[in-house]
Amino acid sequence: MNIEGKTVVITGGAGGLGLSMASALAAKGASIAIIDLDPACIATAIEVLPAAKGYAANISDEEQVERVFESIKQDFGCVDVLINNAGITNDGLMVKQREGVVSKTPLAKFQPVLDVNLTGSFLCAREASALMIDAQSSGLIINISSISRAGNVGQSSYAAAKAGVVAFTSTWCKELAKYNIRVVAIAPGFIKTAMTSKVPAEVLSKIEQTIPLKRLGEPNEIASGVLFAIENDYFNGRVLEIDGGLRL
Ligand code: CAA
Repeated sequence: MNIEGKTVVITGGAGGLGLSMASALAAKGASIAIIDLDPACIATAIEVLPAAKGYAANISDEEQVERVFESIKQDFGCVDVLINNAGITNDGLMVKQREGVVSKTPLAKFQPVLDVNLTGSFLCAREASALMIDAQSSGLIINISSISRAGNVGQSSYAAAKAGVVAFTSTWCKELAKYNIRVVAIAPGFIKTAMTSKVPAEVLSKIEQTIPLKRLGEPNEIASGVLFAIENDYFNGRVLEIDGGLRL
């Protein structure tokens, strides 16, 4: 797909990896729609990318997602690419014992990570693919997974959700190919973003030592993977791993 003139919807596009993708794709001539939770972050992102349009919504809320995609249809006419990028973490061990006391992770800490990362990706892909099919145009859905899908200490919820979006990828690839819609995943490793900055410094430094390249990735190194996924029409149903060679 030639990105120039195409409409790209990026969830979580107002910051971190999403904003880096938005900037890279806008520079190649794409029209950008950013969906994000926080209107203030969207306003800041639009200052950087004045041609982009921002939509405030909680992607785990079905009605809000339906409303936002209706607005995007009115504003842009169609959607060519959806990047399911919005994600949250809420790390913690499932159970732990300290000084003889066993504590358990509350469901209220676990569930929202599934709601946003997994259910949110489903809802956005459902709406975007319905628009693509209706417009009888080709399309692409890029699901942002993570190296954590292999299982990472303290990330039961996030690892499960990120493994889930890979399962979505192969499922939707098979369901949507007949409409000329490709579905792919990108699995970043540890990238310099607000998300990794929340990891305790000593833990992050140990992780960094296990990365063969001995450094965290840069957001633009994920954005260039997104560009590859868009431009290569035979890349379908697979996971592009961009992690410096790390194995968890
Ligand atoms: N591998 C193996 N063991 C680990 C570990 C790791 N990566 N991280 C922690 N542990 C072990 C500790 O050594 C410790 O073991 P002991 O009980 O034997 O001492 C035990 O787990 C508990 O560690 P803490 O004392 O730190 O416990 P805590 O409850 O204060 O914190 C934690 C636990 C929340 C998991 C914290 O260690 C943490 O935040 N770890 C980092 C989690 C992580 O990697 N998050 C990635 C965020 S970035 C991201 O998600 C983006 C992406 O896509 C990659």
